[in-house]
Amino acid sequence: MDVFDTPARMQAWSDRQRTSGRSIAFVPTMGALHAGHMALVDEARRHADLVVVSIFVNPLQFNVGSDFDAYPRPVDTDLEACRNSGVDAVYAPTASVMYPVGFQTRVEPGGLADRYEGAHRPGHFGGVTTVVAKLFQAVRPQVSVFGQKDAQQLAIVRRMVVDLDMGIEIVGLPTVREPDGVAMSSRNQRLDPADRAAAACIWQGLSTARAAFTAGERSTTALRQLAAAPIDAEPRARLEYVELVDPATFEPATAAVDDPLVVCAVWFGDVRLIDNLLLSSAPSPSRRASSPAH
Ligand code: PAJ
Repeated sequence: MDVFDTPARMQAWSDRQRTSGRSIAFVPTMGALHAGHMALVDEARRHADLVVVSIFVNPLQFNVGSDFDAYPRPVDTDLEACRNSGVDAVYAPTASVMYPVGFQTRVEPGGLADRYEGAHRPGHFGGVTTVVAKLFQAVRPQVSVFGQKDAQQLAIVRRMVVDLDMGIEIVGLPTVREPDGVAMSSRNQRLDPADRAAAACIWQGLSTARAAFTAGERSTTALRQLAAAPIDAEPRARLEYVELVDPATFEPATAAVDDPLVVCAVWFGDVRLIDNLLLSSAPSPSRRASSPAH
């Protein structure tokens, strides 16, 4: 496995591969890799000859400096995980390589980035589009795989690739969950045991709404209430929002949207978890026998 730390070295490798006819699928990450990330790597392999993973904790997308400082950086474990899953190259630049003195050009997302997670974290999605555009320039992939876990990020990246004619196919992968339905996230480690157990109320709400949708319920008010009820009933949970949206625009869903997405953010103590579910998604377990499907 090759490891590169500058865009020039990464580009030189990618150009060689492309010249010799090999396609590249790319998985951008901030490291602290878990089974959700590794599912993206497995999916990437199905789409191209070679898989590249980037590991870069992007200062531009953190609006609270302490969050950036506290972000876990288990570099050796991450490289080992990549090696074990057959990743061909890792791109791991430093912040001063990505954002040297004089850096000032940014990729600015549109209104899609203003709502929900964008409203909660001003500037966050502009940091994401800027870094993803830079990573795409370094890796030059044909395909890039993102998790549905960050559904708004996925929608914004899809929009950017079309708007800026990047010519990269974006693949979205269903959320990998723990056996009790909690979406895998590096944030889960920060939950105390009682909050971790209580967090299953999110999946109860999402899956109840999906069951009602499957049974024919189309009232957005009723579906929203079904999703909120188990979270409202959990004393350790503080619901920030739960809404039905159009998955492409993040506009509030109307009964006319065929495939609404339920999005939510819920606090447990000082930990904020986000989750979402496409109401038309299949309810049967998919890739991991022990995980509820997305
Ligand atoms: P990070 O939080 O490390 O996530 C990297 C990728 O893993 C994202 O596409 C995310 O949606 C996906 N992912 C996280 N948890 C998942 C789960 N439980 N199941 C499936 N996929 C999951 O998202 C970022 O990094 C950054 O914003 C990045 C795109 C790298 C830009 O800095």
